[in-house]
Amino acid sequence: MTKQKIKKLNGTLKIIGDKSISHRALILSSISIGKSEISNLLESEDVLSTVNILKDLGIKILKKDQKWIVYGNGTNGFIQPKKALDCGNSGTTARLMLGAVSTNPIYCTFIGDKSLSSRPMRRVTNYLENIGCKVNLTNKENLPLTIKGSRINLPLIHKISKPSAQIKSAIILAALNIHGETTIIEPKQTRDHTELLLKYLKVNYKNQKINSGGRKLIFNGPYEIKSKNLHVAGDPSSAAFIVVGALITPNSKVKLLNVSLNKTRIAYLSILKKMGGKIKIKKTKIRSGEQLGTITISASSLKGITIPAKLSPYLIDEYPILSIAASQAKGVTYMKGLDELRHKESDRIKSIVEMLKSFGVNTKIKKNDIKIYGSESKEVKCNKTIKVYSDHRIALSASILGIISSNSVKLDDGGKSMSTSYPNFKNDLMKLITN
Ligand code: S3P
Repeated sequence: MTKQKIKKLNGTLKIIGDKSISHRALILSSISIGKSEISNLLESEDVLSTVNILKDLGIKILKKDQKWIVYGNGTNGFIQPKKALDCGNSGTTARLMLGAVSTNPIYCTFIGDKSLSSRPMRRVTNYLENIGCKVNLTNKENLPLTIKGSRINLPLIHKISKPSAQIKSAIILAALNIHGETTIIEPKQTRDHTELLLKYLKVNYKNQKINSGGRKLIFNGPYEIKSKNLHVAGDPSSAAFIVVGALITPNSKVKLLNVSLNKTRIAYLSILKKMGGKIKIKKTKIRSGEQLGTITISASSLKGITIPAKLSPYLIDEYPILSIAASQAKGVTYMKGLDELRHKESDRIKSIVEMLKSFGVNTKIKKNDIKIYGSESKEVKCNKTIKVYSDHRIALSASILGIISSNSVKLDDGGKSMSTSYPNFKNDLMKLITN
């Protein structure tokens, strides 16, 4: 990319498939009965880890004419794998697949890369052990772990202590194969792709709103799910990189198509609008339970705001790219209550601040809060190679600031980590860059 030539981002882009929905589409098709065709599946490294693990568990999966075909074996249909199940970098694969295998009478070893092996797993296995399986974790917390599924699984009431869609989904996947009533109470609503897909697959369960703003889900298993073809909506978290790129690059105008407008995923658009971002959202159709839509973004002058801790479950994957928007805003952006960022693909409080500092942006960390002093209208220049800590969202965020940087941005992994969630990011960006 020759820096001086980039004038603006302009054009229309169809956003790639959503990572969270792709994992769920594969897993739910595998535990349905019969053949499912999945369209627009995200073919990123994380999702391919889920594909490979499902194959190791005896599920036939193949790709034909841009569609992924899954032959489901039912909720109790996994076979004893012959080797360790490798989750790579993917926390969603590890946590959801733990739930899915926990009620099948098989013995599995779960492994992952260095980053995943340092992330907490007990938050999920605690609940699964109460149901009946036996788990052995490294250091009582991490991968590698072994899990021995039980034939006798208890229908219980699970009160989830922290808002996490991965914990909730792991328990749901277990509940689908348990005789009797399993109740799951989440304190705040988290992303609900599992629930929406189950509804689309005509699984009968109760979903009630509770006073804390969370939900109570009641399943009465075991279920026999009849397979159906699925469409994966465009990923709003991948769209977020392009949205911020268009906001901070003068004279830009970009239209993004096929984006999931799931309410649990697009809080970042409200935050960017509050910062002064010119963003228009238009609903189009509902496919496989997800609301799709178009997002139109025009370059804007942004201002700093305070983002309260209570919003963190809804912005959890977008703080890195919001920090880039904040760096180009007028005034201070104060992001509060980021505790969970310590447990993502990297310690994202540390990696966000280091990334911004490499661009000379002034930041302060106070426990688990970050203050970003916007450098609106100052020249953007990258002073050193960015340490991305193998974290895709840090690599993608730094590249977006690179669009308006006066020099080239170097990432210490050469952009390799981007393939975790957004393998064709560079191509997509090149399509929009107008001289
Ligand atoms: C995800 C849930 C979130 C999110 C992750 C994907 C999912 O994690 O950060 O990228 O697909 O369920 P938590 O559930 O741990 O908050």
